[in-house]
Amino acid sequence: MSDTRPRLLLTQRQTSTVMQRIEQDFNIPAVPERQLTTRELLDTARAFQPQAILISTGLPLRGDDVLLLPDSVKVVATVSVGTDHLDIPALHARGIVVTNTPDVLTECNADMAILLMLAAARRASEYGALMRRGWGRSLAMDELLGTRISGKRLGIVGMGRIGRAVAKRARGFDMNVMYSNRRRLPADQEAGATYFSTVTDMLPHCDILSLHMPASPETDGMINADLLSRLPRGAIFINAARGALVDEDALIDALRSGQLAAAGLDVYRNEPNPDPRFLELPNVFLTPHVGSATVETRTDMGMLAVDNVDAVLNGRDALTPVRA
Ligand code: 8YV
Repeated sequence: MSDTRPRLLLTQRQTSTVMQRIEQDFNIPAVPERQLTTRELLDTARAFQPQAILISTGLPLRGDDVLLLPDSVKVVATVSVGTDHLDIPALHARGIVVTNTPDVLTECNADMAILLMLAAARRASEYGALMRRGWGRSLAMDELLGTRISGKRLGIVGMGRIGRAVAKRARGFDMNVMYSNRRRLPADQEAGATYFSTVTDMLPHCDILSLHMPASPETDGMINADLLSRLPRGAIFINAARGALVDEDALIDALRSGQLAAAGLDVYRNEPNPDPRFLELPNVFLTPHVGSATVETRTDMGMLAVDNVDAVLNGRDALTPVRA
């Protein structure tokens, strides 16, 4: 008997809870061992004629790729809040609904920013490396000292859901929170943070700078040598948003010169093969784009993506559509 369930193209495995639901409710091709490439996605789509595609960051679908999708595709659901890997206008022009997974990853992404902040400020990379070398002697009172984060001035660039969740955590560290954003937030959302209408004006006041905005052609490379030079010398730089926001040559220069004391990075321009010069810098704490990588959050993300697919294929509005 033929399988009448909707055809879903899965571009990478999801958590076991999400997989159980997908395997029960959808007709899927073989589950990929690793994330498909764009070429593999297009080849599989042509052969399988799916109604829905579940995708994520790290798998770009640009204008020319979108033209090669079969007409069967009604919805592309990305298991991510970010949509910079997708050509949204091109997908919409083909009549394809695009959905993402906002909200459900806010807390984990904010936790990650705090993890990076503490790790960078408290020299976690160097301590970890020392322990693995065998430690072997007591450290002097003034040796390998980090920077206290409690009470420091934190500048948040982009005060959306994630930026506000970082601010909430920072208040727990008695930090003085500042932010720059396209628009000033109402007082209840601002929660005592100081607003700057431009990043440039905020930078001289920041002991720590943390990025929390999406990547777009307008924000590409916005954190450049000029902006980094406006931070107080010895500031700490955190990025759990997108690598494309940063001019990495300028970041590496600032880390080498001491303009930045340290950085905590979860995202890079060239993922999954970041600039190898980062590895030579002891004052950088690096993680492999894992801001949302908890069982709970990845399950919530996958479930929301499947809810969106389900809604669209059953003629209902998507829960979290990405608009033009
Ligand atoms: C990734 C993210 O999607 O949601 C986003 O925009 O960057 C992350 O949650 C996730 O790490 C899978 O690549």
